[in-house]
Order: sequence, then structure tokens, then C-alpha cells
Amino acid sequence: TTFHDKICRSPKTELHVHIEGALTPELMFHLAKRNNVKLPYNSADELRAAYSFTNLQSFLDICGVGVSVLITSRDFYDVTMDYIQHAVSDNIVHSELFFDPQLHTHRGIELTTIIDGIERALIEAEQKYNFSSKLIMCFLRHLDEQDALDTFSRALPLFEQYKHRLIGIGLDSTEQNHPPEEFQRLFARAREHHLRVVAHAGEEGPPLYVKQALDILKVERIDHGVRSVEDELLMKRLVDVKIPLTICPLSNIKLKVFDDMKKHSLKQLLDSSVMLTINSDDPAYFGGYLNANYLAVTDAFHLNQNDIYKIIRNGFEASFIEEEKRQLLI
Ligand code: ADE
Ligand code: ZN
Repeated sequence: TTFHDKICRSPKTELHVHIEGALTPELMFHLAKRNNVKLPYNSADELRAAYSFTNLQSFLDICGVGVSVLITSRDFYDVTMDYIQHAVSDNIVHSELFFDPQLHTHRGIELTTIIDGIERALIEAEQKYNFSSKLIMCFLRHLDEQDALDTFSRALPLFEQYKHRLIGIGLDSTEQNHPPEEFQRLFARAREHHLRVVAHAGEEGPPLYVKQALDILKVERIDHGVRSVEDELLMKRLVDVKIPLTICPLSNIKLKVFDDMKKHSLKQLLDSSVMLTINSDDPAYFGGYLNANYLAVTDAFHLNQNDIYKIIRNGFEASFIEEEKRQLLI
């Protein structure tokens, strides 16, 4: 078997994937029909043709249109199950999935509708495919902290009800001009409730935002963090304290964080011994699920077996799997 086959067949984790970003054009049109929602595109192909992004915001705008078809608990089940099918065929054995409740509650969808649908799919995946998973509730940084705090308060009973699944919070959406420090109270409250904490930082934003996420939000992992290479002291800190980065190579190319894969900072991060992982972010929008991301960086940087095994192993070590279970998966 070839090296590519070996990579594809290896059991892997995925620690950075958004459920809303797993909504394929085909499922979007299917759900639009089922729910009588009018989409501003005539077909899945026409929609796909609109997926040429100039930056993060241009993607978030289109993604916002897509989520309007998600209405019932069954819709959230369907999009989660669609992702699980892809994940299982990429030999993912454990995923930590983000969802953005504010994208839905602000359209009048109940929190329980969202989580019930997602949870049904995750339980079925566990039974059918032995697929392990956790859920992380993400907050939109383009909205203010009060909106996040209100959503968090309303979600508190769900963190209790689903405590073995819904284990933490994250921070996503427009990064520029929305520094982590604006969400200090939200993250303090989450930590008081013993939740795991992560944040997107250093994707489009400066290394300063990565430092704020660590110092002020006290996050355990950085989502993206690819601009950390611009700050030598920060790089040393990431290595010394072993802060995992969840890197999404194809996303960074599609959203023009780097012009092409050869210019991605992943190689420099790897050579500096930063604990990085590879993930798909919004696979239905960025042209590839997890294996495609692994293969793209393997080819761009001529990574060898040691590099890949190290990255795969990092994924298990950086995951929020219970310690007893982690030993069984590695
Ligand atoms: N929401 C979905 N994908 C995202 C990304 N790459 N950055 C910020 N917010 C997101
Ligand atoms: Zn993301």
C-alpha cells in the first residue's frame, strides 16, 4: 500500500469541525425543499460555484445563508449524520464537534431542538460505528459578550443534562477587531462550571489574540493559531507549555490566510515542535474532509511517516476523551 493509503487508513481524531460547516450543498437543497425555505441559488451546483471566498467574512456570510434550512431536530440529526458518514469513511474514531447556538436561537430555533438532533446522531454513531464524540458550544465573537452570557445561562441545564457529551465552550466567527479579552467573563463562568475551554485565535488575527486567549480566557487549546509563527516568544511558550493547535490546512487556503499550501505555517510549527493537529473546519465548504487535509499537507511539505504519526498521535493526546478511554483508543 502507498503512504497515502496508510494515512487514510490510520485511525484518527478530529478536534476542529463545525456542524454548520458540514452542511453539504445537496443536503442544504434537500432540507430547503422539506422545510419550504427559499434559497438564493437555483441548484447545488450553482451554490457550489459561489464558494470562492476572499477571506473569513465572505465564508461566514454564505454559511449564514445555508443554516437557514436547519429548523427541526431532524435537520440537525441529518447534518450531523452526514458528517459522521464522511468521518467514518476517513477512519476518524473520535471527533469533537463545534456548533454555534446563536446562529439558530436568533432565528427562533430552541436550544433543545438543536442539541436533541445532534445528540441522536452521535448516540447512533456510537452504537453503529463505535464512533466516539464530544460536543463544544461555540460563541459568536461578532456579537457582544452579553449575548453570549445570556445564551450560556439558558444553556446551563443542557450542560448538566448532556454532561458526558457537551463538555466545553469555544469562540468563533469574525476574528479581526473582536479580541478574546472581550469574552473574559464568559470564559470565567464556563471554567467555574468545570467546562473545557478553547478559542479560535491567530487565524486572521494577530499573535496578540493567541496570547489573550491563553492569558485572559485561559484556553486549553487554540483553534488555528497559525499566525503564532510571527511571534518568537509565543512560539517558545506554545512548545514549553505544550498548547495544542487545531490546524485546518484546506480552510486556511480557501479563506486566503495563506496563498498556497507550500506557504502554510504548518511546516514551521512542526519543525519547532509545536503540538499541532490536523482538522477540516468546515469540510462541506472547503473542498475536503479530514483525509484530504492530511494528504494536502503531506504532499506540499513531503511529510514522512514520523511526521504523520506524530500529528495523528497529537490528536489523541490533545483530545478531551476521558483518560481511561484514551488509552483504549491510542
Ligand atoms: N466558523 C466556522 N468556521 C470558522 C473559522 N474558520 N473561523 C472562525 N469562525 C468559523
Ligand atoms: Zn473553525
